[in-house]
Amino acid sequence: MSTPIISVRDVHKSYGRGQNRFDALRGVSFDISEGESIAIVGKSGSGKSTLMHILALLDVPGSGTVALEGNDTAQLRGSRLNRTRNKTFGFVFQQFFLTGSNTVLENVVLPMKIAGIGGAERRRRGMAALEQLELADKAKNKAANLSGGQKQRTVIARALVNNPRIIFADEPTGNLDTATGAVVEDILFGLNREHGITLIVVTHDEDLAARCDRRILIRDGRIVEDSRAEVAA
Ligand SMILES: Nc1ncnc2c1ncn2[C@@H]1O[C@H](COP(=O)(O)OP(=O)(O)OP(=O)(O)O)[C@@H](O)[C@H]1O
Ligand SMILES: [Mg+2]
Repeated sequence: MSTPIISVRDVHKSYGRGQNRFDALRGVSFDISEGESIAIVGKSGSGKSTLMHILALLDVPGSGTVALEGNDTAQLRGSRLNRTRNKTFGFVFQQFFLTGSNTVLENVVLPMKIAGIGGAERRRRGMAALEQLELADKAKNKAANLSGGQKQRTVIARALVNNPRIIFADEPTGNLDTATGAVVEDILFGLNREHGITLIVVTHDEDLAARCDRRILIRDGRIVEDSRAEVAA
C-alpha cells in the first residue's frame, strides 16, 4: 500500500488551563489515503472542527503527530508551513469569510497571490475556476452582494485555484437550502471522483456523510466508529 497522504497518531488537544482545561481530542489515530472521501461526523462539541484544524495544519496538537506523506509536520514552520498549506490544501470553511469589499475574482485569486503567481496567470486561472462554478458573470461584483450559495461556490472556486490535493470542508452545506446544498455537494464529489482530490468533510448531514467512502464518528474527542461504504461490484 502507498504511504497515506495524512497519518494521525495519538493526537491530543486541550484548550484552557487548570480548572478551565478541556480535553477536546483524547487520542485520535487514523490514516487517510489519497483520493478518499471522508465524512467526520459527531455531536456538536465532540471535536470535529478541532480535528479538522489540526489535519489542515491550521492548529497544532498538544501531543501526538500528524504526518503529510510520511513527513512529520511538526518540523514545518513559518513560510514553509504556509507554502505547504497553500499548495496542498483547499479550504471550504464557513468561517473563512470572503472579503466583502473585494470583488469575487479578487477573493478567488488570493491563494495564487500568496503563492507568488503572476497577475495574468492569476486572472486566467481565477476566471477558469469561476466558469467551472458558473460564477463568471459575477467576477467583478463585490463578494458582499452575492447570495449564500454563490458565496459558498466562490469559496470552492478559491479552494480550487491552486490545484489542491486535499479539500477540507467544514459544514459546506450547513447554511444552504436543499437545492443549493445539493449543487455544492455535487461540485465537491465531482472534484473527488474526476480529479482524485482527497475530500475531508465535517458534516451534520447524514445524507452527505453517506455519499463519502468513509465515515468517522467522533464522540467526546475520540473516534468511536470508522466505517467504509460497501463498494458496489
Ligand atoms: N479555543 C477554544 N477554547 C476553549 N474551548 C474550545 C476552543 N475551541 C473549541 N473548544 C471546545 O472544544 C470542544 C470541541 O470543539 P469543536 O469546535 O471541535 O466541536 P465540533 O465537533 O466542531 O462542534 P460543532 O458541531 O458545534 O461545530 C467544544 O467543547 C468546544 O467548546
Ligand atoms: Mg465545528
